[in-house]
Amino acid sequence: TGCFTYDPGFTATASCKSAITYIDGDEGVLLYRGYPIEQLAEKSSFLEVAYLLMNGELPDKQQFDSFEHEVTHHTMMHEAFKSFIGGFRHDAHPMAMLVGMLGSMASFYHNDLDLEDPEQRRLAAIRLIAKVPTIAAACHRHSIGWPIRYPRNNLEYTTRFLHMMKEVPSEPLELNPVAAKAMDLLFILHADHEQNASTSTVRLVGSTGANPYVCVASGVAALWGPAHGGANEAVLKMLEEIGRPENVKSAVDKAKDKNSGFRLMGFGHRVYKNYDPRAALVRKMTHEVLGQLGVNDPLLDVAMKLEEAALQDEYFVQRKLYPNVDFYSGIIYKALGIPVEMFTVMFAIARTAGWVSHWLEQQNDPENKIGRPRQIYTGQTSREYVGIDQR
Ligand code: CMC
Repeated sequence: TGCFTYDPGFTATASCKSAITYIDGDEGVLLYRGYPIEQLAEKSSFLEVAYLLMNGELPDKQQFDSFEHEVTHHTMMHEAFKSFIGGFRHDAHPMAMLVGMLGSMASFYHNDLDLEDPEQRRLAAIRLIAKVPTIAAACHRHSIGWPIRYPRNNLEYTTRFLHMMKEVPSEPLELNPVAAKAMDLLFILHADHEQNASTSTVRLVGSTGANPYVCVASGVAALWGPAHGGANEAVLKMLEEIGRPENVKSAVDKAKDKNSGFRLMGFGHRVYKNYDPRAALVRKMTHEVLGQLGVNDPLLDVAMKLEEAALQDEYFVQRKLYPNVDFYSGIIYKALGIPVEMFTVMFAIARTAGWVSHWLEQQNDPENKIGRPRQIYTGQTSREYVGIDQR
Protein backbone atom coordinates (compact mmCIF):
# COMPACT_ATOMS: atom_id res chain seq x y z
CA THR A 1 0.00 0.00 0.00
CA GLY A 2 1.04 3.59 -0.27
CA CYS A 3 0.18 6.80 -1.94
CA PHE A 4 1.64 6.13 -5.35
CA THR A 5 0.68 4.89 -8.81
CA TYR A 6 1.54 1.47 -10.24
CA ASP A 7 3.00 2.17 -13.68
CA PRO A 8 5.11 -0.75 -14.98
CA GLY A 9 7.34 0.37 -17.84
CA PHE A 10 6.55 4.02 -16.95
CA THR A 11 4.00 4.32 -19.76
CA ALA A 12 2.26 7.22 -17.99
CA THR A 13 4.98 8.82 -15.91
CA ALA A 14 6.99 11.93 -16.79
CA SER A 15 10.23 11.56 -14.85
CA CYS A 16 11.60 15.03 -15.58
CA LYS A 17 11.11 18.30 -17.40
CA SER A 18 13.23 18.63 -20.53
CA ALA A 19 13.65 21.22 -23.30
CA ILE A 20 15.73 19.02 -25.60
CA THR A 21 13.55 16.74 -27.74
CA TYR A 22 9.83 16.76 -28.53
CA ILE A 23 7.90 13.76 -29.87
CA ASP A 24 4.27 13.64 -30.96
CA GLY A 25 3.77 9.90 -31.36
CA ASP A 26 0.31 10.13 -32.90
CA GLU A 27 1.34 12.59 -35.58
CA GLY A 28 4.81 11.12 -36.15
CA VAL A 29 6.61 14.36 -35.25
CA LEU A 30 10.16 14.59 -33.88
CA LEU A 31 11.85 17.91 -33.04
CA TYR A 32 15.33 18.52 -31.63
CA ARG A 33 15.24 21.86 -29.76
CA GLY A 34 12.25 22.77 -31.94
CA TYR A 35 13.82 21.89 -35.30
CA PRO A 36 12.03 19.17 -37.32
CA ILE A 37 14.15 16.07 -37.78
CA GLU A 38 13.48 16.17 -41.55
CA GLN A 39 15.16 19.61 -41.84
CA LEU A 40 18.12 18.63 -39.70
CA ALA A 41 18.54 15.41 -41.70
CA GLU A 42 18.58 17.34 -44.94
CA LYS A 43 20.62 20.39 -44.00
CA SER A 44 22.66 19.81 -40.86
CA SER A 45 25.60 17.63 -39.80
CA PHE A 46 25.92 15.32 -36.81
CA LEU A 47 28.38 17.56 -35.03
CA GLU A 48 26.16 20.61 -35.50
CA VAL A 49 23.23 18.59 -34.13
CA ALA A 50 25.35 17.56 -31.14
CA TYR A 51 26.04 21.26 -30.46
CA LEU A 52 22.33 22.04 -30.83
CA LEU A 53 21.29 19.30 -28.42
CA MET A 54 23.89 20.33 -25.85
CA ASN A 55 23.45 24.10 -26.08
CA GLY A 56 19.85 24.65 -27.17
CA GLU A 57 20.66 26.78 -30.24
CA LEU A 58 22.30 26.17 -33.59
CA PRO A 59 25.88 27.49 -33.57
CA ASP A 60 27.03 30.41 -35.69
CA LYS A 61 30.16 29.79 -37.76
CA GLN A 62 32.56 30.82 -35.02
CA GLN A 63 30.77 28.79 -32.35
CA PHE A 64 30.75 25.75 -34.61
CA ASP A 65 34.44 26.07 -35.47
CA SER A 66 35.37 26.35 -31.85
CA PHE A 67 33.14 23.36 -30.90
CA GLU A 68 34.61 21.27 -33.70
CA HIS A 69 38.11 22.30 -32.67
CA GLU A 70 37.44 21.30 -29.08
CA VAL A 71 35.91 17.93 -29.98
CA THR A 72 38.80 17.25 -32.35
CA HIS A 73 41.30 18.19 -29.63
CA HIS A 74 39.90 15.45 -27.37
CA THR A 75 39.67 12.54 -29.81
CA MET A 76 42.76 10.70 -28.53
CA MET A 77 42.35 8.03 -25.87
CA HIS A 78 44.87 7.43 -23.12
CA GLU A 79 47.54 4.90 -24.18
CA ALA A 80 46.64 2.74 -21.19
CA PHE A 81 43.26 2.07 -22.83
CA LYS A 82 45.08 -0.18 -25.26
CA SER A 83 45.85 -2.60 -22.43
CA PHE A 84 42.20 -2.69 -21.41
CA ILE A 85 41.13 -3.39 -24.98
CA GLY A 86 43.88 -5.98 -25.39
CA GLY A 87 42.49 -7.83 -22.37
CA PHE A 88 39.17 -8.62 -24.05
CA ARG A 89 38.71 -11.94 -25.84
CA HIS A 90 38.85 -11.47 -29.59
CA ASP A 91 35.19 -12.52 -29.87
CA ALA A 92 33.89 -10.19 -27.15
CA HIS A 93 30.79 -8.34 -28.30
CA PRO A 94 31.81 -4.72 -29.02
CA MET A 95 28.89 -3.44 -26.91
CA ALA A 96 30.29 -5.36 -23.92
CA MET A 97 33.67 -3.79 -24.60
CA LEU A 98 32.15 -0.32 -24.95
CA VAL A 99 30.34 -0.58 -21.60
CA GLY A 100 33.59 -1.65 -19.96
CA MET A 101 35.73 0.97 -21.66
CA LEU A 102 33.40 3.85 -20.80
CA GLY A 103 33.18 2.63 -17.22
CA SER A 104 36.97 2.61 -17.08
CA MET A 105 37.08 6.20 -18.37
CA ALA A 106 35.74 7.23 -14.98
CA SER A 107 39.01 6.02 -13.48
CA PHE A 108 40.92 8.51 -15.65
CA TYR A 109 38.62 11.43 -14.98
CA HIS A 110 37.31 11.25 -11.48
CA ASN A 111 39.63 12.42 -8.72
CA ASP A 112 39.92 15.99 -9.98
CA LEU A 113 36.38 16.19 -11.30
CA ASP A 114 34.30 18.89 -9.64
CA LEU A 115 30.69 18.36 -10.72
CA GLU A 116 29.76 21.73 -9.22
CA ASP A 117 31.82 23.44 -11.92
CA PRO A 118 29.77 23.91 -15.15
CA GLU A 119 32.94 24.15 -17.23
CA GLN A 120 34.13 20.76 -15.99
CA ARG A 121 30.74 19.25 -16.72
CA ARG A 122 30.84 20.65 -20.24
CA LEU A 123 34.36 19.27 -20.73
CA ALA A 124 33.21 15.80 -19.65
CA ALA A 125 30.44 15.98 -22.27
CA ILE A 126 32.91 17.08 -24.98
CA ARG A 127 35.34 14.31 -24.04
CA LEU A 128 32.61 11.71 -24.35
CA ILE A 129 31.45 12.92 -27.78
CA ALA A 130 35.09 13.05 -28.91
CA LYS A 131 36.38 9.75 -27.54
CA VAL A 132 33.48 7.32 -27.99
CA PRO A 133 34.18 6.88 -31.76
CA THR A 134 37.90 6.32 -31.08
CA ILE A 135 37.13 3.68 -28.47
CA ALA A 136 34.43 2.05 -30.62
CA ALA A 137 36.77 1.79 -33.61
CA ALA A 138 39.55 0.39 -31.42
CA CYS A 139 37.19 -2.29 -30.02
CA HIS A 140 36.30 -3.33 -33.56
CA ARG A 141 39.94 -3.50 -34.66
CA HIS A 142 40.79 -5.62 -31.63
CA SER A 143 38.06 -8.11 -32.55
CA ILE A 144 39.56 -8.63 -36.01
CA GLY A 145 43.16 -8.54 -34.84
CA TRP A 146 44.14 -5.28 -36.50
CA PRO A 147 46.36 -2.66 -34.86
CA ILE A 148 44.51 0.29 -33.35
CA ARG A 149 44.43 3.37 -35.53
CA TYR A 150 44.79 6.83 -34.02
CA PRO A 151 42.27 9.50 -34.99
CA ARG A 152 43.27 11.50 -38.03
CA ASN A 153 42.25 14.93 -36.87
CA ASN A 154 42.22 16.64 -40.24
CA LEU A 155 39.12 14.60 -41.11
CA GLU A 156 35.56 15.44 -40.10
CA TYR A 157 33.85 13.60 -37.25
CA THR A 158 32.09 10.85 -39.21
CA THR A 159 34.81 10.36 -41.82
CA ARG A 160 37.39 10.22 -39.04
CA PHE A 161 35.47 7.43 -37.38
CA LEU A 162 35.16 5.46 -40.62
CA HIS A 163 38.87 5.94 -41.22
CA MET A 164 39.78 4.66 -37.75
CA MET A 165 37.47 1.70 -38.01
CA LYS A 166 37.89 0.51 -41.55
CA GLU A 167 41.12 1.74 -43.04
CA VAL A 168 43.13 -0.97 -44.74
CA PRO A 169 45.82 0.40 -47.06
CA SER A 170 44.41 -1.37 -50.10
CA GLU A 171 40.77 -0.50 -49.57
CA PRO A 172 40.01 3.18 -48.90
CA LEU A 173 36.21 2.76 -48.82
CA GLU A 174 35.82 4.79 -45.63
CA LEU A 175 36.70 8.00 -47.44
CA ASN A 176 33.87 7.45 -49.87
CA PRO A 177 31.78 10.65 -49.47
CA VAL A 178 28.48 8.78 -50.01
CA ALA A 179 29.32 6.45 -47.11
CA ALA A 180 30.34 9.33 -44.84
CA LYS A 181 27.18 11.31 -45.65
CA ALA A 182 24.92 8.30 -45.05
CA MET A 183 26.61 7.55 -41.75
CA ASP A 184 26.33 11.19 -40.66
CA LEU A 185 22.63 11.16 -41.45
CA LEU A 186 22.03 7.99 -39.46
CA PHE A 187 23.95 9.59 -36.58
CA ILE A 188 21.64 12.64 -36.74
CA LEU A 189 18.53 10.43 -36.64
CA HIS A 190 19.86 8.47 -33.66
CA ALA A 191 21.24 11.45 -31.71
CA ASP A 192 18.37 11.85 -29.23
CA HIS A 193 14.90 10.57 -28.47
CA GLU A 194 13.74 12.08 -25.16
CA GLN A 195 13.27 9.72 -22.20
CA ASN A 196 13.93 6.35 -23.88
CA ALA A 197 15.28 3.48 -21.74
CA SER A 198 18.97 4.35 -22.11
CA THR A 199 18.53 8.11 -21.60
CA SER A 200 16.34 7.45 -18.57
CA THR A 201 19.11 5.17 -17.28
CA VAL A 202 21.71 7.91 -17.74
CA ARG A 203 19.44 10.29 -15.84
CA LEU A 204 18.71 7.78 -13.07
CA VAL A 205 22.41 7.16 -12.51
CA GLY A 206 23.11 10.89 -12.95
CA SER A 207 20.50 11.75 -10.31
CA THR A 208 22.76 10.21 -7.65
CA GLY A 209 25.64 12.56 -8.51
CA ALA A 210 27.67 9.71 -10.07
CA ASN A 211 30.62 10.28 -12.39
CA PRO A 212 29.41 11.25 -15.91
CA TYR A 213 31.42 8.54 -17.66
CA VAL A 214 29.70 5.77 -15.69
CA CYS A 215 26.35 7.45 -16.31
CA VAL A 216 26.97 7.09 -20.06
CA ALA A 217 28.39 3.57 -19.61
CA SER A 218 25.09 2.55 -18.01
CA GLY A 219 23.25 4.16 -20.92
CA VAL A 220 25.26 1.96 -23.30
CA ALA A 221 24.29 -1.10 -21.24
CA ALA A 222 20.58 -0.22 -21.46
CA LEU A 223 20.87 0.46 -25.18
CA TRP A 224 22.27 -3.00 -25.90
CA GLY A 225 19.00 -4.88 -25.32
CA PRO A 226 17.10 -6.04 -28.42
CA ALA A 227 13.95 -4.14 -27.36
CA HIS A 228 16.01 -0.91 -27.62
CA GLY A 229 19.17 -0.23 -29.67
CA GLY A 230 20.03 -3.90 -30.06
CA ALA A 231 17.09 -4.05 -32.48
CA ASN A 232 19.20 -2.95 -35.47
CA GLU A 233 21.43 -6.02 -35.13
CA ALA A 234 18.38 -8.21 -34.50
CA VAL A 235 16.62 -6.85 -37.62
CA LEU A 236 19.46 -7.82 -39.91
CA LYS A 237 19.69 -11.28 -38.40
CA MET A 238 15.92 -11.66 -38.79
CA LEU A 239 16.01 -10.56 -42.44
CA GLU A 240 18.85 -13.00 -43.12
CA GLU A 241 16.85 -15.79 -41.51
CA ILE A 242 13.75 -14.96 -43.55
CA GLY A 243 16.09 -14.99 -46.54
CA ARG A 244 13.58 -14.61 -49.40
CA PRO A 245 10.40 -12.61 -50.07
CA GLU A 246 8.45 -15.93 -50.32
CA ASN A 247 9.12 -16.57 -46.61
CA VAL A 248 7.72 -13.25 -45.43
CA LYS A 249 4.18 -14.46 -44.82
CA SER A 250 5.23 -17.19 -42.42
CA ALA A 251 7.42 -14.68 -40.50
CA VAL A 252 4.44 -12.34 -40.13
CA ASP A 253 2.25 -15.23 -38.96
CA LYS A 254 4.88 -16.26 -36.43
CA ALA A 255 5.14 -12.69 -35.08
CA LYS A 256 1.36 -12.69 -34.52
CA ASP A 257 1.53 -15.91 -32.54
CA LYS A 258 2.12 -14.90 -28.91
CA ASN A 259 3.42 -18.38 -28.10
CA SER A 260 6.19 -18.19 -30.67
CA GLY A 261 8.27 -15.77 -28.59
CA PHE A 262 9.05 -14.01 -31.90
CA ARG A 263 8.37 -10.35 -32.65
CA LEU A 264 9.03 -8.49 -35.84
CA MET A 265 12.24 -6.73 -34.99
CA GLY A 266 12.31 -3.09 -36.09
CA PHE A 267 8.53 -2.87 -35.66
CA GLY A 268 6.54 -1.07 -32.99
CA HIS A 269 7.39 1.75 -30.64
CA ARG A 270 6.31 2.86 -27.20
CA VAL A 271 5.59 6.41 -28.34
CA TYR A 272 5.00 6.31 -32.10
CA LYS A 273 1.54 5.06 -32.96
CA ASN A 274 2.07 6.28 -36.50
CA TYR A 275 4.98 5.93 -38.93
CA ASP A 276 8.26 6.71 -37.08
CA PRO A 277 9.51 9.85 -38.92
CA ARG A 278 13.08 8.55 -38.62
CA ALA A 279 12.06 5.28 -40.29
CA ALA A 280 10.58 7.23 -43.21
CA LEU A 281 13.89 9.07 -43.67
CA VAL A 282 15.99 5.90 -43.37
CA ARG A 283 13.73 4.06 -45.81
CA LYS A 284 14.24 6.77 -48.44
CA MET A 285 17.95 6.92 -47.75
CA THR A 286 18.34 3.14 -48.09
CA HIS A 287 17.29 3.25 -51.72
CA GLU A 288 19.53 6.24 -52.47
CA VAL A 289 22.61 4.90 -50.70
CA LEU A 290 22.40 1.41 -52.14
CA GLY A 291 21.88 2.95 -55.58
CA GLN A 292 24.83 5.33 -55.23
CA LEU A 293 27.13 2.64 -53.88
CA GLY A 294 25.99 0.20 -56.56
CA VAL A 295 24.99 -2.37 -53.92
CA ASN A 296 22.23 -4.80 -54.78
CA ASP A 297 21.18 -6.42 -51.52
CA PRO A 298 18.38 -9.01 -51.73
CA LEU A 299 17.61 -8.30 -48.07
CA LEU A 300 16.14 -4.95 -49.15
CA ASP A 301 13.47 -6.82 -51.12
CA VAL A 302 12.77 -8.98 -48.07
CA ALA A 303 12.48 -5.88 -45.87
CA MET A 304 10.14 -4.08 -48.27
CA LYS A 305 7.94 -7.13 -48.64
CA LEU A 306 7.87 -7.61 -44.89
CA GLU A 307 6.88 -3.99 -44.28
CA GLU A 308 4.14 -4.22 -46.91
CA ALA A 309 2.77 -7.48 -45.50
CA ALA A 310 2.75 -6.21 -41.90
CA LEU A 311 1.17 -2.86 -42.76
CA GLN A 312 -1.71 -4.68 -44.45
CA ASP A 313 -2.21 -7.14 -41.64
CA GLU A 314 -5.06 -6.60 -39.15
CA TYR A 315 -2.84 -7.57 -36.17
CA PHE A 316 -0.29 -4.81 -36.90
CA VAL A 317 -2.89 -2.27 -38.01
CA GLN A 318 -4.96 -2.68 -34.84
CA ARG A 319 -1.94 -2.33 -32.57
CA LYS A 320 -0.55 0.58 -34.60
CA LEU A 321 2.74 -1.19 -35.17
CA TYR A 322 4.86 0.57 -37.80
CA PRO A 323 8.51 0.20 -38.81
CA ASN A 324 10.81 2.06 -36.42
CA VAL A 325 14.19 3.73 -37.04
CA ASP A 326 16.02 0.42 -36.85
CA PHE A 327 14.05 -1.41 -39.52
CA TYR A 328 16.14 -0.19 -42.46
CA SER A 329 19.27 1.19 -40.77
CA GLY A 330 21.02 -2.20 -40.72
CA ILE A 331 20.73 -2.57 -44.49
CA ILE A 332 22.57 0.74 -44.91
CA TYR A 333 25.24 -0.15 -42.36
CA LYS A 334 25.72 -3.47 -44.15
CA ALA A 335 26.11 -1.66 -47.48
CA LEU A 336 28.73 0.58 -45.85
CA GLY A 337 30.65 -2.54 -44.83
CA ILE A 338 29.96 -2.21 -41.10
CA PRO A 339 29.88 -5.65 -39.45
CA VAL A 340 26.55 -6.57 -37.88
CA GLU A 341 27.85 -6.75 -34.30
CA MET A 342 28.90 -3.08 -34.62
CA PHE A 343 25.40 -1.84 -35.53
CA THR A 344 24.34 -1.07 -31.96
CA VAL A 345 27.73 0.56 -31.35
CA MET A 346 26.88 2.97 -34.21
CA PHE A 347 23.68 3.83 -32.36
CA ALA A 348 25.68 4.36 -29.14
CA ILE A 349 28.14 6.76 -30.81
CA ALA A 350 25.26 8.90 -32.04
CA ARG A 351 23.18 8.70 -28.86
CA THR A 352 26.17 9.85 -26.79
CA ALA A 353 25.28 13.38 -27.96
CA GLY A 354 21.79 12.95 -26.51
CA TRP A 355 22.95 11.27 -23.30
CA VAL A 356 25.44 14.01 -22.43
CA SER A 357 22.87 16.72 -23.26
CA HIS A 358 20.35 15.15 -20.89
CA TRP A 359 23.00 14.70 -18.23
CA LEU A 360 24.01 18.37 -18.53
CA GLU A 361 20.37 19.49 -18.42
CA GLN A 362 19.75 17.37 -15.35
CA GLN A 363 22.83 18.66 -13.52
CA ASN A 364 21.54 22.20 -14.10
CA ASP A 365 18.00 21.42 -13.01
CA PRO A 366 17.15 22.81 -9.56
CA GLU A 367 14.31 20.26 -9.38
CA ASN A 368 16.69 17.31 -9.86
CA LYS A 369 16.10 14.71 -7.14
CA ILE A 370 17.56 11.26 -6.75
CA GLY A 371 15.53 8.86 -8.93
CA ARG A 372 13.88 6.50 -6.52
CA PRO A 373 10.69 4.74 -7.71
CA ARG A 374 8.46 2.91 -5.25
CA GLN A 375 6.95 -0.57 -5.65
CA ILE A 376 3.83 -2.58 -4.94
CA TYR A 377 5.06 -5.13 -2.40
CA THR A 378 3.81 -8.67 -3.16
CA GLY A 379 5.91 -10.67 -0.66
CA GLN A 380 5.31 -12.20 2.77
CA THR A 381 3.84 -10.20 5.61
CA SER A 382 5.89 -9.96 8.81
CA ARG A 383 6.82 -13.37 10.29
CA GLU A 384 9.07 -14.83 12.99
CA TYR A 385 12.59 -16.07 12.26
CA VAL A 386 12.94 -19.85 12.68
CA GLY A 387 16.36 -21.43 13.41
CA ILE A 388 17.89 -23.63 10.68
CA ASP A 389 17.49 -26.83 12.74
CA GLN A 390 13.75 -26.24 13.04
CA ARG A 391 12.89 -25.59 9.35
N1 CMC B 1 5.96 -7.77 -33.30
C1 CMC B 1 4.81 -8.34 -32.95
N2 CMC B 1 3.99 -7.86 -31.98
C2 CMC B 1 4.36 -6.73 -31.36
C3 CMC B 1 5.57 -6.07 -31.69
C4 CMC B 1 6.38 -6.62 -32.71
N3 CMC B 1 7.52 -6.03 -33.04
N4 CMC B 1 5.69 -4.97 -30.90
C5 CMC B 1 4.62 -4.93 -30.12
N5 CMC B 1 3.80 -6.00 -30.38
C6 CMC B 1 2.48 -6.26 -29.79
C7 CMC B 1 2.60 -6.80 -28.38
O1 CMC B 1 2.65 -8.20 -28.36
C8 CMC B 1 1.35 -6.24 -27.75
O2 CMC B 1 0.25 -7.02 -28.16
P1 CMC B 1 -1.02 -7.24 -27.18
O3 CMC B 1 -1.62 -5.88 -26.97
O4 CMC B 1 -1.91 -8.18 -27.91
O5 CMC B 1 -0.48 -7.84 -25.92
C9 CMC B 1 1.17 -4.87 -28.40
O6 CMC B 1 1.82 -5.01 -29.68
C10 CMC B 1 1.83 -3.72 -27.62
O7 CMC B 1 3.21 -4.06 -27.38
P2 CMC B 1 3.99 -3.75 -26.03
O8 CMC B 1 5.11 -4.74 -25.90
O9 CMC B 1 3.03 -3.61 -24.89
O10 CMC B 1 4.56 -2.30 -26.39
P3 CMC B 1 5.75 -1.54 -25.68
O11 CMC B 1 5.50 -0.11 -25.87
O12 CMC B 1 5.94 -2.04 -24.31
O13 CMC B 1 7.05 -2.01 -26.52
C11 CMC B 1 8.72 -2.13 -28.20
C12 CMC B 1 7.63 -1.27 -27.54
C13 CMC B 1 9.52 -1.25 -29.17
C14 CMC B 1 9.66 -2.67 -27.12
C15 CMC B 1 8.04 -3.31 -28.97
O14 CMC B 1 7.22 -2.80 -30.00
C16 CMC B 1 9.05 -4.30 -29.53
O15 CMC B 1 9.47 -5.22 -28.84
N6 CMC B 1 9.50 -4.11 -30.83
C17 CMC B 1 10.54 -4.93 -31.40
C18 CMC B 1 11.90 -4.44 -30.95
C19 CMC B 1 12.31 -3.13 -31.61
O16 CMC B 1 12.21 -2.98 -32.83
N7 CMC B 1 12.85 -2.20 -30.81
C20 CMC B 1 13.39 -0.92 -31.30
C21 CMC B 1 12.61 0.25 -30.82
S1 CMC B 1 12.99 1.75 -31.75
C22 CMC B 1 14.67 2.07 -31.48
C23 CMC B 1 14.92 2.60 -30.12
O17 CMC B 1 14.70 3.83 -29.92
O18 CMC B 1 15.35 1.85 -29.26
